[in-house]
Amino acid sequence: MPANLEYLAAPEPDGSVCGLWPSTVRRVDGELHIGGIGVTTLVREYGSPLFVIDEQDMRERARAWKRAMDEAFEDLGGAEVFYAGKAFLSVGVARWMAEEGLAIDTCSEGELLTALAAGVPGEKLGLHGNNKSRREIELALDSSVAHLVVDSLAELAFVEAIAAEREATAKIVLRVTTGVHAGGHEYISTAHEDQKFGLSIASGTALRAIEETVAAEHLELVGLHSHIGSQILSLDAFAAAAEAILALRAEASKTFGVTIPEIDFGGGYAVRYTVLDDVPPAPLDFAKALAQAVTTHVVETGLAAPTVSIEPGRSIAAPSTVTLYTVGTIKTIQLDEGSRRYVSVDGGMSDNIRPALYGANYTVALANREPSEEQVVSRVVGKHCESGDIVIKDVALSANLGPGDVLAVPTTGAYGRSMASNYNMLTKPGVLAVRDGEARWLLRPETVADLLALDADA
Ligand code: LLP
Repeated sequence: MPANLEYLAAPEPDGSVCGLWPSTVRRVDGELHIGGIGVTTLVREYGSPLFVIDEQDMRERARAWKRAMDEAFEDLGGAEVFYAGKAFLSVGVARWMAEEGLAIDTCSEGELLTALAAGVPGEKLGLHGNNKSRREIELALDSSVAHLVVDSLAELAFVEAIAAEREATAKIVLRVTTGVHAGGHEYISTAHEDQKFGLSIASGTALRAIEETVAAEHLELVGLHSHIGSQILSLDAFAAAAEAILALRAEASKTFGVTIPEIDFGGGYAVRYTVLDDVPPAPLDFAKALAQAVTTHVVETGLAAPTVSIEPGRSIAAPSTVTLYTVGTIKTIQLDEGSRRYVSVDGGMSDNIRPALYGANYTVALANREPSEEQVVSRVVGKHCESGDIVIKDVALSANLGPGDVLAVPTTGAYGRSMASNYNMLTKPGVLAVRDGEARWLLRPETVADLLALDADA
């Protein structure tokens, strides 16, 4: 553990020292400001734990992907960026994404209805899922979504049957497994054979699905899709997956005489959680790697260039958000070698399950005042009844930290609030958008009354 992790992680006045913090974060007289508002004010007025989204930062990241894809695919078949709502979705965020020209990838009735509530038109929505319900499929068809991403032969038949009942035509994208194994953790790798997603290219199932879709009366084959995993740094992994899916497109053309119009390369672009993490490639680097594969495919096959889409979630949402916690009890445990200071905060695994689930590492900074010179080896833990309830395993933090201090954990915008739970009947924190010195709730904090409202005997 580098002794000066906190110092390195803390933003410099230009806000950009290590790229871990949203772009508007500054230290003003020792206090962290986000979107022009000090954390002391934020916690006093809105409570903690609190997810704070820097609206400007999130919009900039969405725009960066859009620009990169438009540039890389300008001379090919054009591009569409779907924001993966699973990272974090609210009506407000769906509106921001739509305003920045992005479409939205949803994977449940809840996500679909949230995007629709934001006024996002069906043609700017996609629906994923390996086990869609009848209701979800019906909602997608009734909303005229851009496509349903079908995950199995069984589902293909199910969608055909529902579309037939409604005398509709379902626009189908087939999710295929390319065999490229990549991703930050086993649970978020999705393109190897032995996992639940997709139609295998290697076994011939993907080709069969293409044949069945083309033959079906109420299905229109609009594209092929591949998502190889999440938190991926390697351009080579994306290029390899792109080559595999484009080879399938070429094979479909040869075998069935169809030119599949769209290819979706999924999401999975890595972000940096701590200063020890590698710096990921920029959106334009990823876009160019994909465009290179498409160019080669077009030259080699003579087929028309497909329209390309991608589905970044984490790389737009994660770095735009900071979680604020208030410090409570502090205790120091004597170990065989030295000691460890345990710093308890007012949230934990219910607002960020990622450390417990994936062994994910985060960093943290003392946010309401300048840290002291002297640093102490610390473990930041939550308030849940579980010893694995760890927010940050090892970090050097101000020696003079005390109850009431505010800690800020950056990069929590993806898969934090969206995977939050009510473990120990804790209420889920609110999500506050900040911009130009103004704050507004995107999601208000839950209350115990919300939880009791579900209790049939309360
Ligand atoms: N498209 C599809 C089909 C996906 O399954 C996913 C993520 C994405 C796009 C967006 O991937 P992103 O760009 O956000 O990496 N809960 C895990 C991540 C699970 C990702 C699931 N699918 C985590 O906290 O790391």
